[in-house]
Amino acid sequence: MRDLARKHGIRIGSAVDVAALRAEADYRHVLNREFTHLTAENAMKWESVEPERGVYTWDDADAVVANARRNGQQVRGHTLIWHNQLPGWLTSGVEDGSIGPAELRKILREHVQTQVRRYKGKIRAWDVVNEAVDDDGNMRQTIWLQHLGPGYIADAFRWARAADPRAKLYLNDYNVEWNQGKIDRYLSIIQELQAQRVPIDGMGFQGHLGIQYDYPGDWANVMRRFAALGLEIAVTEMDVRMVLPVTPEKLATQAEYYSRALTDCLSVKACREFTVWGYTDRHSWVPGWFDGEGAACILDENLRPKPAYQALLATARR
Ligand code: XIL
Repeated sequence: MRDLARKHGIRIGSAVDVAALRAEADYRHVLNREFTHLTAENAMKWESVEPERGVYTWDDADAVVANARRNGQQVRGHTLIWHNQLPGWLTSGVEDGSIGPAELRKILREHVQTQVRRYKGKIRAWDVVNEAVDDDGNMRQTIWLQHLGPGYIADAFRWARAADPRAKLYLNDYNVEWNQGKIDRYLSIIQELQAQRVPIDGMGFQGHLGIQYDYPGDWANVMRRFAALGLEIAVTEMDVRMVLPVTPEKLATQAEYYSRALTDCLSVKACREFTVWGYTDRHSWVPGWFDGEGAACILDENLRPKPAYQALLATARR
């Protein structure tokens, strides 16, 4: 796939499971053979990099960046601000009131500055804020919104830009492929940020799909609405889950979903990256998070290509 990515001038990426990267030579080999872009699946999240206040653990995040450097890959930083996978010291401090709003804002600023500066020049694009909007199209009620107000988003983008002026700065979320409330909310957030001259470069569509739902047939048009605001687009976490057991028919439908998603990205000039959320069913978040579902990736547990992989190749060859 690396050759086809180059041919189209886009990046084809995968999320990286750092434990597998370290322990499994076959996993590492296929990752580096197939992909031009990497995202740490968990290693750059706040709970991973600062599990105790002021105690930074960069080893896993560094391992992803080092692997990319050795193999000519670019990196998406995921993620600076989110409501999940926050360290316990932070959430409990906010809850018991020992961390007040002013201190929380300072902690957030230091977090953004420290992490972005550490990887300055090594991260192509940052997911600055992840999942800021809920499924009703309202601003998600997070500790950030509740204690800092909606301005936390503008602040975060400005801090990130100052820390690494070259990194592309993204908002990232799921269901933006089709959820009209979410789409409209994001478009208005972005217009408001732009009106305040806040540096924002991109919109990330996570792309967590399932074959039991219709394919989001309007996705390419949705991408174009964001591109029309001058933004770069990325598919950041593509996977296509299914209700188990696996059947040949389901694998064929899954292949079609992957192929349509890549086709949609390739049809929009601003879409610069197509990243899968893990490339093998051996290491996928789906079985652990969606009861009775799985087999969401393009290679099977033995790293053998599934119809979805062949479909992506065929789509990119066209
Ligand atoms: C998931 C990881 O894949 C899991 O290993 C972890 O336990 C939970 O988070 N949206 C995101 C990702 O932005 O960070 C999530 O990753 C999947 C949903």
